[in-house]
Amino acid sequence: METLFIIKPDAVGKGVAALITKRIQEKGFRIIDSKTLKLSEQEAGEFYSIHKGKPFYDELVDFMTSGEIVVLRLEREDAVRYLREVVGATNPSNANPGTIRKDFGTSVCTNAVHASDSDENAKREIAFFFKK
Ligand code: CMP
Repeated sequence: METLFIIKPDAVGKGVAALITKRIQEKGFRIIDSKTLKLSEQEAGEFYSIHKGKPFYDELVDFMTSGEIVVLRLEREDAVRYLREVVGATNPSNANPGTIRKDFGTSVCTNAVHASDSDENAKREIAFFFKK
């Protein structure tokens, strides 16, 4: 089973991408593929199209295009559910101790990482970054 993981511009900018990647590997995820890139406004809009029209959409696209991101295609048993557990709640202040967002996120927008929220979205998101 596979899932998609993104280390966002806040975490990459702080220089903690390698540390976060190490944590993910220690949790038993295997890295199938990875790339570092900067999203265009159009690409970020396409990736987050399900959030179009929401009050935080413009802030989200601005943030996600503000710097480089690291995208990881990950494999593990129960990958989608378990990665979300390791990542923690969307808002870092609600995230459990020891989760990535608790340790590296600073706001509901600048929350350090993204993880696919369903098997269906994992497939779509992996195709978006790795099968074009
Ligand atoms: P992510 O897992 O990448 O999925 C959508 C993103 O939108 C989310 O993480 C946050 O970065 C962002 N987001 C969600 N809710 C809010 C909010 N209320 N205000 C600002 N950003 C948000």
